[in-house]
Amino acid sequence: MDLHLEGKKALVIASSQGLGKAIAAELVREGADVMLVSRSDGKLEAVQQELQKLGSGVVEYYAADITIPHEVEAMVRYTAEKFGRIDILVNNGGGPSPGTFETLTDEDWDKAFQLNLLSYVRMIREVLPHMKGLGGHIVNLTSTSIKQPIPGLILSNTFRNGVAGMSKSLSQELAQYGILVNTVAPGRIETDRIIQLNESNAKAKGVSAEEVAEQSQSEIPLGRYGTPEEFAKGVVFLLSGANTYITGTTLVIDGGLVQAL
Ligand SMILES: NC(=O)c1ccc[n+]([C@@H]2O[C@H](COP(=O)([O-])OP(=O)(O)OC[C@H]3O[C@@H](n4cnc5c(N)ncnc54)[C@H](OP(=O)(O)O)[C@@H]3O)[C@@H](O)[C@H]2O)c1
Repeated sequence: MDLHLEGKKALVIASSQGLGKAIAAELVREGADVMLVSRSDGKLEAVQQELQKLGSGVVEYYAADITIPHEVEAMVRYTAEKFGRIDILVNNGGGPSPGTFETLTDEDWDKAFQLNLLSYVRMIREVLPHMKGLGGHIVNLTSTSIKQPIPGLILSNTFRNGVAGMSKSLSQELAQYGILVNTVAPGRIETDRIIQLNESNAKAKGVSAEEVAEQSQSEIPLGRYGTPEEFAKGVVFLLSGANTYITGTTLVIDGGLVQAL
């Protein structure tokens, strides 16, 4: 299948590692030009050099904190100037702090609101004028917590559902401009985030992180964590020119973990 990604201009948020980096890599392999974004200049430069070898797409980077409005504005402006247009937006960011209702403070709630919901709103607001005339694809990364709450991750269970609701509304509001908006829900894809959550669970339970990892993989019908590359392939299809009629949906990529229909 031709994904029609050659020459497309993609802005991939939180792409210095993990899921964002894997999506960026897959886009470059398919010939898209990619703007990498995270807070760390050094990490981004190393990823740029690594990804540049993968395909014909041009790889650029811009260091910005997505919770700071003027940095978001400057980053989107820079991307539009560099590439001439923006066809693809991947909204992504770091995960919220783990914790239960009784362990979290107002500060924790506010941080998660800024990082995991409001940053997505601001990003779309800035990108929209660049997509309106030409159409485009937006994917909002969330978590399986939008289908089934994850114990000990109440901030994800709350704010990721806000993103899913916004995504569905936007798919309806932006269809008139030829902009397709979808949500992706990863579950247990092996990245630093999963390693950190396992360590935090291990500490809480007084067992080793290896034991937590073993138990957590045994709960997945496919019996193992997913790889970032497996995850990225699903996302890149949604972002591609081959996807002309899927909008307002949620793609769960979790090895069969979620029990909901
Ligand atoms: N892996 C999974 O199975 C899974 C499951 C459910 C949900 N998720 C969620 O999916 C997202 C990506 O997951 P991941 O596994 O790739 O996580 P990760 O390995 O922890 O990577 C997080 C990325 O976010 C960037 N970032 C964090 N805060 C930022 C900020 N304020 N501004 C700009 N960039 C920021 C980090 O870059 P810098 O540090 O360089 O800024 C890094 O590139 C996370 O929100 C995670 O909670 C993942």
